[in-house]
Amino acid sequence: MTHAVAAAFLALETHAPSLDDVRTLDLFEKDGARFDNFSVSLDEDFLFDFSKHKVTRETIDLLVALAKARQLEGRRDALFAGEPVNNTEKRPAMHMALRDLSSRALVIGGADMRPAIESEREKVFAFARAIRSGEAKGATGLPFTDIVNIGIGGSDLGPVMAARALSPYGENGPRAHFVSNVDGADLSDTLAGLDLARTLFIVSSKTFTTQETMANAASARARVVAALGEAAVNKHFAAVSTKLDKVAAFGIDASRVFGFWDWVGGRYSIWSSIGLALVIAIGPENFTQFLQGGFDIDEHFRSAPLDKNIPALMGLLGVWHRNPLDRRAHAVIPYDQRLARFPAYLQQLDMESNGKSVTRDGRFDTHRTGPIVFGEPGTNGQHAFFQLLHQGTDVTPIDFLVAAEPTAADAHHHALLFSNCLAQSEAFMRGRTLEEAKAQLRGQGLGADEVERLAPHKVFSGDRPTSVLLYRRLDPRTLGRLVALYEHKVFVQSVIWDINPFDQWGVELGKELANKLGPIVENASASTVGLDGSTAGLIAWRRSKQ
Ligand code: F6P
Repeated sequence: MTHAVAAAFLALETHAPSLDDVRTLDLFEKDGARFDNFSVSLDEDFLFDFSKHKVTRETIDLLVALAKARQLEGRRDALFAGEPVNNTEKRPAMHMALRDLSSRALVIGGADMRPAIESEREKVFAFARAIRSGEAKGATGLPFTDIVNIGIGGSDLGPVMAARALSPYGENGPRAHFVSNVDGADLSDTLAGLDLARTLFIVSSKTFTTQETMANAASARARVVAALGEAAVNKHFAAVSTKLDKVAAFGIDASRVFGFWDWVGGRYSIWSSIGLALVIAIGPENFTQFLQGGFDIDEHFRSAPLDKNIPALMGLLGVWHRNPLDRRAHAVIPYDQRLARFPAYLQQLDMESNGKSVTRDGRFDTHRTGPIVFGEPGTNGQHAFFQLLHQGTDVTPIDFLVAAEPTAADAHHHALLFSNCLAQSEAFMRGRTLEEAKAQLRGQGLGADEVERLAPHKVFSGDRPTSVLLYRRLDPRTLGRLVALYEHKVFVQSVIWDINPFDQWGVELGKELANKLGPIVENASASTVGLDGSTAGLIAWRRSKQ
């Protein structure tokens, strides 16, 4: 760590206690323009409000100073220049190229990739149009009414999250389904009620080796062969992968195989051909709007000064909470039912990227890195885990996401939804003191003893930080903005923590052991000698039930 970085961290750590006795509400009292000063509008359709974090101008200046000490702007420019920022795997991380709707060259590895990107996208679009129009038919001559994406992790979470979020845009397309879990119940339950003669399977896997996806694809293939014959595989399967040789072995016609590149990480791949299921569901025009939303954020991230740069601010505020204040979790609560899978999507994006303990050059002396990310749609979360968020011993920063306009034509429901969102954000900041709790109980007519007994239970510390991402409506462009915002937020944090967010070695060990255990579990007479006592005991217990 350079002297400048150490000094910038130290300055933040020294500054933090100066806010201990400050109330966020007082910051609003002192600064009548705090909302304006601590929020950023991307344009008239998108606003980021961080005024309810207990931060001052000095805090932001110190965070920006830390970002400068870490040369965030230079690292950002290297990212966009297609440099091999994924240093362990010696690759660029250029998912932004897939949504760059300008006409400039997209140089990656010395070559302009724009023609290849656009031609692959056009191939995806043409196939999607053929499926949507009914021109492409199944083996028995019937058009497709249902598509089933088989993939996991980045080859599932993006499309499933987005298809749900944009379901109103999918009315004219086939129904989209998603199978990810190796648990056979996932495939069986999904296929129950579907007519295989009208079903298209899309096998999505960057590597085309992932155990879960290969097992589900093989089972789906067997079902199609049993119902419609071997020759039907060609018509009922498409595939998305970077490993086209492996796809060929599965027997999928080359005209239905869509590629992308190793510089697109799995959790960043929704912008690539991995979006095929989404493109079929919502149509190419809406998907292009989704790309446009991502591109809007790229342009903003590349050009806005850091103290007005939404992903930079989101990332730096996260650093503020994670490092000087040691907050371990981060909640994302969309007051938008159709964003129900967005927290799950962000879990992979954030935790697979920044859940690291080594620096880019392999030293074990990082600061505390990525928080635990979780969330559920509001208002449901309010009736589940908000108790802990309000009164638990840990403070958890929260992002609220909410639309200004209703997504369904029911203004009353939306008014309730919106007011709950703002009420929660206010409650987390405002809290309730012991005196206020007592006054409230007295006002309810309780006697002195009851007031003393109950009041401590009704205290809320307040000063619990929340951001609000407010957008006009949840449309494809807004969703693209949200996804790209979080991508860059995660990148910003990786730069501050000096870690590589683009690899995921932490998923390897479990995969290796599962591959070793598979044959032992499947073959009841296989020896368990050499396994640890717990693993051997658990296998023996299962065998006793077979
Ligand atoms: O969980 C590890 C991981 O490699 C993710 O990064 C990836 O999104 C997922 O598995 C699926 O991989 P693939 O697309 O190669 O099947």
